[in-house]
Amino acid sequence: MNVRIEVIDREGAAHQLEAPTDMALNLMELCKAAELPVEGTCGGMALCASCHCYVNSDHQLPEQSDDELAMLSEIFTLKHNSRLGCQLAITPALEGLSITLAPEEL
Ligand code: FES
Repeated sequence: MNVRIEVIDREGAAHQLEAPTDMALNLMELCKAAELPVEGTCGGMALCASCHCYVNSDHQLPEQSDDELAMLSEIFTLKHNSRLGCQLAITPALEGLSITLAPEEL
């Protein structure tokens, strides 16, 4: 099955993506596949923050792991709704999710 996920890029443009839930993808990989400007430098290890995003919608998401919390704590542009896209697996629970790509850290 597919879920629909909205990604707002750093220019404010909204992209409506369709994501399969059965391919073990995460949000970072989905953005890269859609050619959005998400580097995913560390390959999804919660070590680079290039997949930092803000969750706009009111979804129940999995708890942050210690690794994700540690990485987020080093980010200048942290907000209460910050997450690392690579730590969010594409599951049916993400149907209708909306995220905004965070500014790139200098
Ligand atoms: S891809 Fe590096 S922290 Fe997500």
